[in-house]
Amino acid sequence: MGCAISGLAPKTLGETTEEDVAHLNEKQIQMIKESWKVIQEDIAKVGIIMFVRLFETHPECKDVFFLFRDVEDLEMLRTSRELRSHGLRVMSFIEKSVARLDQLERLDVLAVELGRSHYHYNAPPKYYSYVGAEFICAVQPILKERWTPELEEAWKTLFLYLSRLMQQGYQDETSRHHHEAASRKERPEKRNTPR
Ligand code: HEM
Repeated sequence: MGCAISGLAPKTLGETTEEDVAHLNEKQIQMIKESWKVIQEDIAKVGIIMFVRLFETHPECKDVFFLFRDVEDLEMLRTSRELRSHGLRVMSFIEKSVARLDQLERLDVLAVELGRSHYHYNAPPKYYSYVGAEFICAVQPILKERWTPELEEAWKTLFLYLSRLMQQGYQDETSRHHHEAASRKERPEKRNTPR
C-alpha cells in the first residue's frame, strides 16, 4: 500500500451546509486541469488500482459490490473485466468533473444526481471520501516529480466537494423514500371488502 495521506477522513463529511462546501480557487482549478492531462493517459490503470486499494484498506466496501463481494483474492481483481469497467465509469465521472470546473452549477447537478443513484446501489456517504484518498495514492506515482503538496490539496478539495454533493443527493433520496413510505402508511390501499 505505502501511501499515507491525511485530510480526507469521513469525519470531515458532516451534515452539508452552505458554508461547509469545499471551495476550489482558480489556481487549484488550473493545477487539476494540467495534471489531468497526464493522469488521463492511464485512466484504466488508475481506476483499477484505486478500487483494489479501496478493498484492501476498507474491506467493508467490497460488500456493496454484488460482483466482487465473494472474491477473497484481491490479486484476482486486478485482472477482472468488471472491475476495469467499473473503474472506468468512476474515472469518466472524474473526467466530466474536471471538464466542468468552470461551470460548477453543472457539476453540482451531476454530483447530486450521482449521490441519488448511490442510494440505490446501497453505497452510503461514509465511504465516498475513501475513494478520493485512494485516487490520490494511485496518481502520485504517475505524476512523479510533478506531484506537489499544493496539487494534493487541490485534488483533496475536489474530492471533498464531490463527496459532499453526493452526500446531499444520497440524503435527498433517503428523505424522499422515507416520505413515500410514511404516506403509504397514512393512506393504506382501500380495501375491496363489503361493509
Ligand atoms: C467519489 C466517490 C465515487 C464516485 C465519483 C463514484 C462514481 C460512480 C459512477 C460514475 C458510477 C456509474 C453509474 C452511475 O453513473 O450511476 C458508479 C456506480 C457504482 N458505485 Fe460509485 N462512486 C463513488 C464511490 C463509491 C463507493 C465508495 C462505493 C461502494 C462502497 C460505490 C459503489 C458503486 C456501485 C455498487 C455502483 C454500481 C455498479 C457499477 O456501476 O459497477 N461508489 N459510481
